[in-house]
This record gives sequence, structure tokens and C-alpha cells, in this order.
Amino acid sequence: MNIAVVGTGYVGLVTGVGLSEIGHNVICIDTDENKVQKMKEGKSPIYEPGLDELMVKNIEAGRLHFTTQHAEAFKEVDVIYIAVGTPENEDGTANLTYINQVAQQIAQIIKKDIVVVTKSTVPVGTNHYIKKKLKENVSSHLNVEVVSNPEFLREGSAVYDIFHGDRIVIGADNKKAGEIIRKVNEPFGIPIFETDIRSAEMIKYASNAFLATKISFINEIANICEKVGADVEEVAFGMGMDSRVGNQFLKAGIGYGGSCFPKDTKALKKIAENVEYDFSLLSAVIEFNNKQQRKLIDQALKDFSSLEGKTIGVLGLAFKPNTDDIREAASLAIIPELIKMGANVKAYDPVAIENAKKVLPEEVQYVGSALEAIEGTDLVFILTEWDEIKSLPLEIFAEKMKSAFVYDGRNCFSLKVVQEHEINYYSIGRRLSNKQDLIIESK
Ligand code: UDX
Repeated sequence: MNIAVVGTGYVGLVTGVGLSEIGHNVICIDTDENKVQKMKEGKSPIYEPGLDELMVKNIEAGRLHFTTQHAEAFKEVDVIYIAVGTPENEDGTANLTYINQVAQQIAQIIKKDIVVVTKSTVPVGTNHYIKKKLKENVSSHLNVEVVSNPEFLREGSAVYDIFHGDRIVIGADNKKAGEIIRKVNEPFGIPIFETDIRSAEMIKYASNAFLATKISFINEIANICEKVGADVEEVAFGMGMDSRVGNQFLKAGIGYGGSCFPKDTKALKKIAENVEYDFSLLSAVIEFNNKQQRKLIDQALKDFSSLEGKTIGVLGLAFKPNTDDIREAASLAIIPELIKMGANVKAYDPVAIENAKKVLPEEVQYVGSALEAIEGTDLVFILTEWDEIKSLPLEIFAEKMKSAFVYDGRNCFSLKVVQEHEINYYSIGRRLSNKQDLIIESK
């Protein structure tokens, strides 16, 4: 099948490359000339493990192409995927400017029947709106159908996910269009769930909101564990053994970030508000996550009455490991606050420093290794659980820091090992057993 993919962000590029890998002839479109030139050479503009190799392979096989010209891309295609961004408006709603632009371009250019597939995360009802816009603007003899096909890729493991996802959701109100998109996706060998358009749109938001809720739930349990002396990792393990609970997304820490959970939870709240429904549970999840991102600062302020003049090493800036993405990362909530309090911040991340420089205060000093970020500091904050950080030998904290106060927001180290070292270690939902045992009296 000949396919065009509009937008080469995380979703669009991985989708385009994945579709070419399963045998389709794919042309990806982006308006950024430099980006397109880079991609033609098989270089991904985003950091995503395994993507460059797959790009090179499919470019060489003649199945993967890139262009800045919509007219050229749409000429021979049967299917157009829309994978442009839907950033957050100030009020939390999804901004559909790019979606509108693409719909307009499609309407102006196409000369044959076409199926438009929406990959971008869009509020319920948007696919019908896109279809209406297209129908209004294309010649009446052409048949244009719209299908919703939400993505569930995780950054950092998107290449793995596209070939091993749990399901592919296809929302179609037109049987023939649904069948075409099922055929496009069958070679992935992943279970396909076919449904109506509005339900498909909702599946995406409901899935992300549910996962965000699961994370906030375990984080609240973690906060209670700290107070009652339980260990959240033991608790999560025990809970996860129940298949009704499931053992994934129960990792406690300093909250969720990234381009999806924060944006999609707020957008779903708005979708509910628009139909006069107060999604109070989701409001609590969002509010709690904002608090949890500040947890290490709260703890540090309990240990030190002020952070003014302290040198703080920050390990990890990305919102999670294996990505250079810092959107809604805990680092963005924490570091500006530390600077405001008068602390000196030395930060390290294996790949996210360039992105961080664009948004973090200029006072932040960036260093080239974890060791440099630790050396001579009063406190260390661990914000991302990169393998490189998890495998640091614990003695370096005691040896290299001025005073070894380590605040681990991602529970990178086993408490058993921590106890063998002379460090003051705080992590989420776990207490060091050498601290005085808690006696909790019922009130
Ligand atoms: C997510 C969804 O998983 C994916 O299906 C969707 O399409 C896009 O959003 P992504 O944002 O790339 O993917 O990362 P994910 O691995 O889901 O992690 C999101 C955030 O939750 C990260 O900040 C991560 O640190 C945090 N998280 C995740 C936890 O704090 N605990 C967990 O147990 C899992």
C-alpha cells in the first residue's frame, strides 16, 4: 500500500518507519527542510533507540521516503496518516491548529479516493470534524473516509512497541475504510480491535488517564508506606501478583511526566467538563502528581532548614530513561525552584542536556558526567533512572560529596546495599531499617 505520513515527531516518524518495515511504501512529510534532509540520510531528529538503523534499512530498500512537499507526497497514495502535534492550550484543551492545516492541505491536493487515518491524540468528536472539513472542501466525486487509529507507543521503547504492542485500535464508521486500515496493520501481527470512531478516540484518553491514575495511586501508597514503615516496592510486588491489578505501572517515584500523561489527563478533564461532567478522580490525580514532583524538595527542606548556598547535583533531566525528551519532566518542576531558593545546581543527563538548556534557568551548570555532578556537592537529587545512574557505585557519594545526602526520586538503589554505605539516603516509599523503628499508636 502507498502511504503518506504527515508529521515526523515521535509518533509520525516511528509510525512511518514501522509501516515501511512491514512492507508498505511510505513517504513522510515535514515542513522543516533541515529535518527532512537529515532523515533522508537515515538520521532520526529524535533520540529513540533502534530508530536510525531501521530508517537506514528501509530507505535502502526503497520503501521509506521523506519530503517537505505535500503535493508530491499525496500524489499516488491510498492512505494518509495525520501525526501532527496537538499541543495543550492554556486552558488544558487540545490545540487543533496543525490538524486543521493538514485537513486543508489534503482537501486542496487529493485527486483520488482516500482514507485519512488520525494518529494524533484528538478529543472525542475530532475525527468527525476532520471528515466534515474534508467533505466540504474536496470535489464531490471523491470519496474521503476518516479512521481513528490512536497510538500507544512509549518514548524510549517506541521501536519495540510498534512491533510488540498489546493491541491496535481501529475506529471506523465506514466498513470499507476500516477494512483497508485493518489490512494495512495486519502484517504487524498484533491483535486488532475494531470499534467506532468515538470509542477509539476515547480509548486513547481513557488508557492514558488510567495509567496516570495507577501511578498516582502507587505514589500515594508510597507516601503512606514511608509514614507507617512499609516498603512500597514489596507492596507493589504483592499487589501486582493479582492479575486483576497487574504488575505494571506500579513503580513509585516523583510522578509522571512526558508528552502524553500530563497533557492527555488535562484534555480528558476538559472533554468531561464540556459535557458538564466533573471528573473529580482525574482532577485529584493531576493535582497530586504536581505535588509529588516536588517531593524531594520537601524532604530536603526537612533535613536542611534552607537550601540557600547549597550545591546540589542533579542526576537525570529527561522525563524517563532512554529519551532526550524533557517535556513535563520532574526536573522542570524541581530545578527552577532550587535556583529560586538560592541553591547552586550542577546537572547531568546522558542525552537531554541540550533540550534542558533551552528551558531551564541559565544559572544551571551542566556537566559531562554523573561523577562531575556528584563531586563537591552537599546534596544529590536523582530524577531519572538511567541505567548509567543505577549502576553508579554507592561509595562515590560518600567519597566525592561534601556531605552525602542523596535524594533518590526513582528508587535506583537497593536499600540493602545502601545500608552498607555511609550515606544519608532518602527514596520514595521506603525506609531504611536502621532508622529507629516506628511505633504507631492508634488515635
Ligand atoms: C505513555 C504511554 O505509556 C503510551 O502508551 C502513550 O502512547 C504515550 O504516553 P510515555 O509517556 O512515552 O508513554 O512513557 P511511559 O513509559 O508510559 O512513562 C510515563 C511517565 O510515567 C514517566 O515519567 C515515567 O517515569 C512515569 N512512570 C511510569 C512512573 O512513575 N511509574 C511507572 O510505574 C511507570
